[in-house]
Amino acid sequence: MSVQRVLSGIQPSGRLHIGNLVGALQNWVRLQEQYECYYFIADWHALTSQYADTSKLKEFVKDVLVNCLAAGLDPEKATIFAQSRVIEHAELHVLLSMVTPLSWLERVPTYKEKQSEVKDKDLNTYGFLGYPLLQSADILIYRADYVPVGVDQMPHIEITREICRRFNNFYGEVFPEPEGLLTQFPKVVGTDGRKMSKTYNNCVYLSDPPKEVEQKIRTMTTDPQRIKRTDKGDPELSPVFQLHKIFSTKQEQDEVAEGCRTAGIGCIDCKKVLIKNLFTVLEPIWEKRNHYLKKPDLLEDILESGSKKAREVAVETMLDARKAIGLGGLK
Ligand code: TRP
Repeated sequence: MSVQRVLSGIQPSGRLHIGNLVGALQNWVRLQEQYECYYFIADWHALTSQYADTSKLKEFVKDVLVNCLAAGLDPEKATIFAQSRVIEHAELHVLLSMVTPLSWLERVPTYKEKQSEVKDKDLNTYGFLGYPLLQSADILIYRADYVPVGVDQMPHIEITREICRRFNNFYGEVFPEPEGLLTQFPKVVGTDGRKMSKTYNNCVYLSDPPKEVEQKIRTMTTDPQRIKRTDKGDPELSPVFQLHKIFSTKQEQDEVAEGCRTAGIGCIDCKKVLIKNLFTVLEPIWEKRNHYLKKPDLLEDILESGSKKAREVAVETMLDARKAIGLGGLK
């Protein structure tokens, strides 16, 4: 059997943070060793909610690309591209829209949830309703076997599978049915203890300079009941400890937990261990970021040559899809 294909995308809707690193990028890096991987920057998806202000779009696309490379994605191993540079995604989106019942889109949980959650934007648009279908086109056009995503994206994989079956039923087996590869990872908490998210302003960004990372951790919330240095704490109530679980060794976790419970160490001592470990992960990333940021031409080349490679696959698939529907020429 030929090597199986993996596809995944990330929205350039803000700068990437350490939650994106451990939740997605590090997993993508592992997968590139084993599979034929296609990773893309979903710039059209970002437009579905940020159409009214596109002033930062270019900056965010660049940030995603630089971080992908800095985290270890290798353009020699994986195809890294921009969605909007492979316009066939849009064509497939149109074709899929013909067979997609409106009710399927309306019942996707992220649709109503996000509409009611996001108050500063008008998401009563056609583009926003069609978000999951555009994602289906992204996936099906590469005939991907696996789609690594977090649990929040599973409904989008599910609708993709349904659309896939429906299309194949009407027109013949054009697309294999993709599977979600659930990325098992604990939610990364932000500096205030809530889920790390740009809307909460509690992120440690990959683009933060070292001083700022240190400052953010130093001022992070801890167990709210441990007020004085002599108070005993409960590590499970401290977001700092949640980050230790991701970035520190088991031994260090045991030591800071014990120190917290017995008031043997202060919160700053505990945070210093976390800062050291975060720096160990981030230093090589910072170094590579600086390297790429000095080479805008190289970045443009990487994105364009990846997009060209992706386009070749997408063009092939569209020949089959058009032909199956009866749009493949008159002969
Ligand atoms: N919706 C995904 C997210 O927000 C991004 C995305 C767009 C995607 N198209 C995709 C992910 C296709 C996987 C496959 O995270």
